[in-house]
Amino acid sequence: MSVLIKGGQVVTSSNRYQADVYVEGDKIKAIGTDLDYQAEEVVDASGKYVLPGAIDPHTHILLPFMGAHAKDDYETGTIAAACGGVTSIIDFDVQQKGESLLDALNRKKELARDKVAVDYSLHPAITDPRADVIAEVEKAAREYGTPSFKIFMVYDFRVDDATMIKLLQATKKHGGLVQVHAENFYIIQYLNEVLESQGKLSPYHHALSRPNIAEQEAVSRATKMVELTDSRIYIVHLSSKEALWTIKEARDRGLNILAETCPQYLLLNEDRYQEPGFNGAKYVMSPPLRTEESSLALWEGLRGGDVQVVATDHCPFDFKGNKDMFGQNDYKKIPNGAPGVETLLMLMHSEGVKKGRLSLEKMVDFLSTSTARIFGMKDKGEIAAGKDADIVVFDPGQKFTITKDRLHMNVDYTPYEGLEVTGMPSLVYSRGKKVAKWQDDRVEFVGRPGNGRFVKREPFDYTDPA
Ligand code: URP
Ligand code: ZN
Ligand code: ZN
Repeated sequence: MSVLIKGGQVVTSSNRYQADVYVEGDKIKAIGTDLDYQAEEVVDASGKYVLPGAIDPHTHILLPFMGAHAKDDYETGTIAAACGGVTSIIDFDVQQKGESLLDALNRKKELARDKVAVDYSLHPAITDPRADVIAEVEKAAREYGTPSFKIFMVYDFRVDDATMIKLLQATKKHGGLVQVHAENFYIIQYLNEVLESQGKLSPYHHALSRPNIAEQEAVSRATKMVELTDSRIYIVHLSSKEALWTIKEARDRGLNILAETCPQYLLLNEDRYQEPGFNGAKYVMSPPLRTEESSLALWEGLRGGDVQVVATDHCPFDFKGNKDMFGQNDYKKIPNGAPGVETLLMLMHSEGVKKGRLSLEKMVDFLSTSTARIFGMKDKGEIAAGKDADIVVFDPGQKFTITKDRLHMNVDYTPYEGLEVTGMPSLVYSRGKKVAKWQDDRVEFVGRPGNGRFVKREPFDYTDPA
């Protein structure tokens, strides 16, 4: 299959220019003005942007968590991704007790087989850090193609500080990267007890039980481990201004701390927990939503370079049936997580670029180029000759009102219900194949589940300054 995309504005992480893009098979073959290739499909992209497909490096497909399973499987989740202009996901592969990392990877790959509609990779999430598992980091980074490892400082499956140190040493030696869910377990445990004793158990109290300082303390501790081991770390789903200050301070001292934030922390605030009835449960996630001050600081962190990636933490639980199953009378029993993979690009464009909070080029960097570089996806993340033809032809003027019914995620709500965005994908290609298309009043999936591939990622480059 060959495609000639004519007359669009090609956007990279550093500039934009008018050009034609010629795709042959899986790859971008040529970029230039007035390209004269005979292609099977010719697309008129005048007035549109030609963007690299977004990469979402933080999804939880089918995550078993707090008595429920995240609702999207690899088919529904990657169809939704495609419709949102996300052409790769990196999904968390949470190790079960007793499993090796390879067993965990094979278990999740089996779930993905014949289902994935766009490319995917996996991050092992280490929850049973036996010596043989820490020894497996080398193979995971250098052979399995999964060089990034999530650890949790919180929840029942958290790792202790000594384990974190061992993992930082192992990843440094073998080209891996530790990703940290940073919240202080004991602060939260204590506040849970206090709130419980006062009968304060509504969704709003979820936020009170996990204050900014719980995130800041854990981030601070993680940076000390990095200092001790002269290694690197990546903080996932950064939410608070205080934790960001700690990262900034550490980076200013020369420590290699990378960070990701998510649209929900940039766009939504803790007042959502005060919505009538049990509605606040829709926003029960960890870390919780914060005040507007934190959101403003996170935008600044993105602009200033202290935050390098925007991901979604896509973890969809139904409002009816999951969120309310055990949690009606106790926020601690509400499955933590919210849907987001499909709304990533539209939100970052409409709320970020259109509102002047960041440039189009920066958006491409946070959603594609920087993500591909950090996570070793060497064929992804840029509109450039030789790269995979993961392309979004994006109409910056297309209006769309976000409603659950017009989205494809397999979940009964969206946190952005009723929000009008400006700018939507017109066409989405995954390795040269059309997977999604704007039609009437929404994006439709036109690809085939099973066409997505597992992406073997490169080890992390420790010579590249973080
Ligand atoms: O609330 C969240 N974030 N749920 C998903 C699991 C995690 O910690 O990322
Ligand atoms: Zn997490
Ligand atoms: Zn997560």
